Formats: sequence, C-alpha cells, structure tokens
Amino acid sequence: MYAYEVLKMVHQPHEVNETAARSGAAHTGGNMVTSDSGNENTFQFRDTLIRLHNGIYILSVDDDGERNAMPVSWVSQVSFDPPIVMVAVHPSRYTHHMLESAGSFAINLLRRDQAELVPRFKLKGEDRPKKFEGLKIAAGVTGAPLLEDAAGYIECEIVKVYDPGDHTLFFGRVVDARLNDPDAAVLSVDQYGKSYG
Ligand SMILES: Cc1cc2nc3c(=O)[nH]c(=O)nc-3n(C[C@H](O)[C@H](O)[C@H](O)COP(=O)(O)O)c2cc1C
Repeated sequence: MYAYEVLKMVHQPHEVNETAARSGAAHTGGNMVTSDSGNENTFQFRDTLIRLHNGIYILSVDDDGERNAMPVSWVSQVSFDPPIVMVAVHPSRYTHHMLESAGSFAINLLRRDQAELVPRFKLKGEDRPKKFEGLKIAAGVTGAPLLEDAAGYIECEIVKVYDPGDHTLFFGRVVDARLNDPDAAVLSVDQYGKSYG
C-alpha cells in the first residue's frame, strides 16, 4: 500500500453529528461574527471550530537517538504533488524542539480500537520515556519510531515551518507511507469523545 492510499486515511469527514450541528447553528444564530467582538464571540468561535472533523494520530520523532511521540489532531494533507502534510504543534510541547532539530517526523495512524494508547503518549517529565513501554516499535527511514501495531504511518521530511498563531505549523514532504491494515478505520476525535482545544 503506497503513499496515496495511506494519505486517503488522514481523516475525512464521515458522519455529521446532527444534534451538535443544530445546537451550534442555533447558538450562533447564523450571524457572521468577527474576531474582535469580545468574549461571547470567542466562545462562539471555539464552539464552532471544534466541529471541524479531525483524526487522532501519534506524531513521533527521533532526534539524534532520542525518541518521543505525542497525540495530535491538528493534521492535514496540504499538497498532492509533491505529497505534503501539515501538523500544528504548540511550542510548549517537548516534541516541538525535537522536530526543529530532527527535521523529520512520522504520523502514526491509530486504529479505532487503539484509543487506549492515547493517554500514555501525553506523559510528561520523568514519565516521558514510558510512552513506548511494551509496544512494538520499528525505526522508519527518517529514524522516527513507528508503532508496528498501528493501522499505518506517514513519514515526512520537514520542508517548511510557519507560525501564524500560537501553534507552529510543520509542513512535511512524504518520504514513506504504508498501511499495515488497509481495512482499518482510523481513530477520530468523534469516536475518542474528547477534542483537542
Ligand atoms: C486528542 C488529543 C489531540 C491533541 N492534539 C494536539 C495537536 O494537534 N497539537 C499539539 O501541540 N498538541 C496536541 N495535543 C496535546 C499534546 O499531545 C500533549 O500536550 C502532549 O503531552 C505533548 O507531549 P510532549 O510534551 O512529550 O511533546 C493533543 C492531545 C490530545 C489528547
């Protein structure tokens, strides 16, 4: 299974939560809101933005022999040719400086039955090395740790970095991608039940 097929698994909208969509529409009243119009609109922005469909992935990196990984949901394909994906990472994440230094990353695609893996990849401080405990890990072409039991992975070399707001956007050109399980549905925020942000 090659890069194009794997990229198709980066989450696509599949179901609309109609109740949520209706309550969001009622809340905003369908009116145009602007970013400088105060707290009520800040709430409306947030309430509306969390309805964007997102998958949940494990972003992994190897920086000169040091490995780390973290859950991410702000991920998108941004180019077919060449294939490029983007991940948004807050500068406070330990992973952030590792990405800048390593210049590469992997996006591991979790299956829907792997939701229980998400909390361990949030471990901080001295617990951080426990993130990979007991998991089968392979090294990708970039060195990034790949979860062998995941649905698949996308490996990237960073070609552009942009910081338009409070997260840094890392744009990565796909250098390898593979599906371990082409039939697996990929974990989404809808299914996980918790949203980022
Ligand atoms: C479902 C979910 C999605 C997340 N998405 C992102 C994201 O897209 N970008 C980000 O910077 N943090 C995101 N986070 C928060 C980080 O995963 C979390 O802060 C993590 O502990 C960072 O690990 P690190 O400090 O070892 O890099 C997400 C967390 C969860 C649970």
